[in-house]
Amino acid sequence: MTGQWWREGVFYQVYVPSFQDGDGDGFGDLWGVERRLDYIAALGVTAIWLSPVYASPLLDFGYDVSGYTEVGAPFGDLAVFDQLVRGAHDRGLRVVLDYVPQHTSSEHPWFRDALSGRDGAHRDWYIWHDPKPDGGPPNNWASAFGGSSWTFHEPTGQYYYHAHLPEQPSLNWRNPDVQQAMFDVMRFWLDRGVDGFRVDAVWRLIKDAQLRDNPMDDGGESFEIGGAAAHTTVRQVQKYTADQPELPGLLARMHTVTEEYDDRMLMGELHLKLERVAALGGRGLDLAMNFSLIDTPWNGLDLANLIQRYYAALPPGSHPNWVLSNHDRSRLASRIGPERVPGALALLLTLKGTPTLYYGDELGLPDAPVDGAHARDCAELRAPGLGLGRDPQRMPMPWREKPARAGFTPDDVESWLPIPSWAGRFSVESQELSPRSVLCLVKELLMLRRELAVLRRGDITVLSAHPDHLAYLRGDGEDAVLVAVNLSERHQSIAFSGTGRALWSSHATAGERDQQAGAIDLAPFEARLLAVT
Ligand code: NOJ
Repeated sequence: MTGQWWREGVFYQVYVPSFQDGDGDGFGDLWGVERRLDYIAALGVTAIWLSPVYASPLLDFGYDVSGYTEVGAPFGDLAVFDQLVRGAHDRGLRVVLDYVPQHTSSEHPWFRDALSGRDGAHRDWYIWHDPKPDGGPPNNWASAFGGSSWTFHEPTGQYYYHAHLPEQPSLNWRNPDVQQAMFDVMRFWLDRGVDGFRVDAVWRLIKDAQLRDNPMDDGGESFEIGGAAAHTTVRQVQKYTADQPELPGLLARMHTVTEEYDDRMLMGELHLKLERVAALGGRGLDLAMNFSLIDTPWNGLDLANLIQRYYAALPPGSHPNWVLSNHDRSRLASRIGPERVPGALALLLTLKGTPTLYYGDELGLPDAPVDGAHARDCAELRAPGLGLGRDPQRMPMPWREKPARAGFTPDDVESWLPIPSWAGRFSVESQELSPRSVLCLVKELLMLRRELAVLRRGDITVLSAHPDHLAYLRGDGEDAVLVAVNLSERHQSIAFSGTGRALWSSHATAGERDQQAGAIDLAPFEARLLAVT
């Protein structure tokens, strides 16, 4: 597993608070992840992306870091972190850690020092500015969680900038000391054996030095949190707060830190137009995370258009990446409907490029509604009832069928987010032995991806696109694999002049339906893979 392993890898995103409670406090942790390593390895993925596990007040559940070289108490400690990395490596799994360089927690000692006075040693580690003459914030920059991204600090008479919560002050990446300190944080974890980082909010890392106002949204951006429609407060084009001209240079420097070690990588969170995401891949970021499958209307024409646009935009040498779900957006099953989930997972795992699979999507988990009394996410707490909250897509993983807490935590312990009574039906235990379950389909697809190099390396050509279906070819010549997905509740027939050997279907046992020349007939919502013969 050496030499740019991530190019042929499959990432599994573990949202640590929700994966497995290992110490019986109702909150997921590293002991829990360690206990589930066999499950992850048996799925057939090749790398784990761990959400942040640093010391944190948990206002944004780890994305507010108060100590970068510590493991936060509810997540575990350094000993279990090391054990987890070793255990993963023993099973052939890579471990990528979430790295949060854009902002710290307001509890971080650097920020506490910055608050101590204008001459505090760390004052310039953050972004400070005088008020406008009327006392207002320096410009119109909006926070991702709504409202202004400037908060006034009375005792020192200046505003500080935070792209997210006021409790998440943004670091000043124009300051070389910040760069050095944050590169040392990377080294700390690379020394402990992590295989790379998922870099949080990286498109926002550096802001306009002149602090110019952002223009309003032109409808073309992709949004980080919630859906674009819900985000009236952040409908600003991030013209001066994201993707600044200095960004590629900074990313390149960040990448050189990984190059001090063997075979490490960076994948970056970028919510930008598709062409910009594509362009930033390979320039400091080994993988530029591509969230467009989340935002694209789920029909064959839009999907085909997206696929073609994306590959066409990738500069030579840059590697494609696909994200189908994550902890910030409504779950796949709730977005497109449960019956379309197998087809969507077939797309994710057979498109050209490195897929990222969100924990629970392999079970077809839908969002779990969380009532106001149980809400935990800051996006919900700041704007209750607007549908911005991210708790529903962070439901604790259901492992077992019968227990009330589904094996996530002991039954007599309250889990940090509620576990609905229906959770057991989706559990690993109840799907494992059922051959057409989403879990088994995902395992089969991942197995095929391991067996067939063409699914990892082959080129891609769209063969047929229609609002109700999509078909493409991976590779050419003898090894080609055809992928056909029916997105509708009606039978679909796709013209195809060749013949094919059945490899996999979401509906029938693979091997039953070899393909004769003519047309590929797909049952409602069926996805099929054929080895072209
Ligand atoms: C993106 C993360 O995915 C999200 O969960 C978090 O709230 C923000 N960045 C801030 O770190």
